[in-house]
Amino acid sequence: MLRRYALVGTGDRGQMYVRAMAEQFADRARLVALADINPARVASYQRLLESLGAPAASAWDAREVTAMLAKERVDVLLVTTVDRTHAEYIVAALEAGCDVVTEKPMTVDVAGCEQILDAVARTGRHVTVAFNYRYNPVHERVRQLLADGVVGEIGSVHFEWLLDVRHGADYFRRWHRDKQNSGGLLVHKATHHFDLVNWWLDDLPARVYASGQLFFYGEAGAKRGYDRGYRRAHGAAEAADDPFALRLADSPKLRQLYLEAEHVDGYHRDQNVFAPGITIEDDLAVLVHYRRGARMTYHLTAYSPWEGYRVMFNGSHGRLELEVVENDYVRPGEPGRLPTGGTPPAAADAPPEQGRYRLSVHPFWRPPYQVEVPGYTREGHGGADVRMAEVLFGAVSGPDPLGRSATELDGAASLLVGLAGNRSLETGAPVAVSDLLDLPEGA
Ligand SMILES: NC(=O)c1ccc[n+]([C@@H]2O[C@H](COP(=O)([O-])OP(=O)(O)OC[C@H]3O[C@@H](n4cnc5c(N)ncnc54)[C@H](O)[C@@H]3O)[C@@H](O)[C@H]2O)c1
Repeated sequence: MLRRYALVGTGDRGQMYVRAMAEQFADRARLVALADINPARVASYQRLLESLGAPAASAWDAREVTAMLAKERVDVLLVTTVDRTHAEYIVAALEAGCDVVTEKPMTVDVAGCEQILDAVARTGRHVTVAFNYRYNPVHERVRQLLADGVVGEIGSVHFEWLLDVRHGADYFRRWHRDKQNSGGLLVHKATHHFDLVNWWLDDLPARVYASGQLFFYGEAGAKRGYDRGYRRAHGAAEAADDPFALRLADSPKLRQLYLEAEHVDGYHRDQNVFAPGITIEDDLAVLVHYRRGARMTYHLTAYSPWEGYRVMFNGSHGRLELEVVENDYVRPGEPGRLPTGGTPPAAADAPPEQGRYRLSVHPFWRPPYQVEVPGYTREGHGGADVRMAEVLFGAVSGPDPLGRSATELDGAASLLVGLAGNRSLETGAPVAVSDLLDLPEGA
């Protein structure tokens, strides 16, 4: 069956969906309409469709999204806008009788979360949260091993995520640097990680304590002498040899999407990461208690020399360890890697992800063993984006034993860890998730 799709939010991430519909899934998904507050970016998407030989899609002002959904007889709305605006489009689409696929985080606050859950209950339509990390073959294998009980009942999880000074810095160059837009990194970024743990443990968060700071970027870094004193890199002589500067003009993709569209909305994609005005943290520690009793210690660092993560599960029969190295260092002069993956980056954007993992099981009284995972690739979040698109666009059907597809309840469950963490950052006290929102038992 050919379903009619519209996309709101014609920025970087939306291109992954557009390419998927134009190429692999053209027989199942027809993109009929595009919306954004910036018509120049919508026009660049129309050119992209043309270059891919795909049928044209109509262009809309995002304020007219309800009219767009009706006029274009849309079945599914893809939401790839700035996080702060997700809830408004999700609810509008559900009310219009559409299903929704939304980028993470599902929204950035409790009110938005409640509005989405209410709208799903009222309309009976479906929301899928695009938690692509679930579809990384290594993460799927972890879920399988834990479900098979290889390390028994889980007592605790120790999880560290490192963002390097190229990708991590990117959250300090643009809209994410304002917590109102992104919810901060506990919401914007860690929603992926909290979702993985909820899914791996098949459990829900009960209580959260968080402590964090802006340690490296912003004025703190400026005091250490990192600041070159410019506001945005484009056109600034001081940025010429700054390893933290993003050079929009060097990449055809960045130039089209941002530089040539900024006259419309003043969106500067290349701000100085040490300039004032940042309201998010770059170094965060979180302690989570889960309903069935497991504890997690989690740490996110956004200014690391290498990018990757380590997660360990301590169980009643042993221990499972995963280490993934995505980039082992950042070369100066290559600051422009886009954070999405999905398609191989253009030469000026970045080198491909390096992609190296070590997954091991350590049973009691026996030697440890390594687990090999076929299908892990170097691109698109370990191969996850392509695999997720296969499910989203219906190319894989039937029951999924791993339960990878994430609903609005999964979106809420991971979001609530971040939101409770943010509340804890404000109050200095642990926060019961149920004080923010009562998740149903079956979530
Ligand atoms: N799952 C992943 O791996 C992944 C990776 C990157 C981004 N994302 C998510 O994708 C979304 C977009 O991120 P991006 O990197 O493409 O950002 P971006 O800045 O490149 O694009 C955001 C787009 O939203 C538009 N926009 C802003 N306000 C709007 C409004 N009120 N109404 C309609 N459109 C509006 C902007 O004009 C822009 O075109 C975010 O939610 C982000 O979390 C997910």
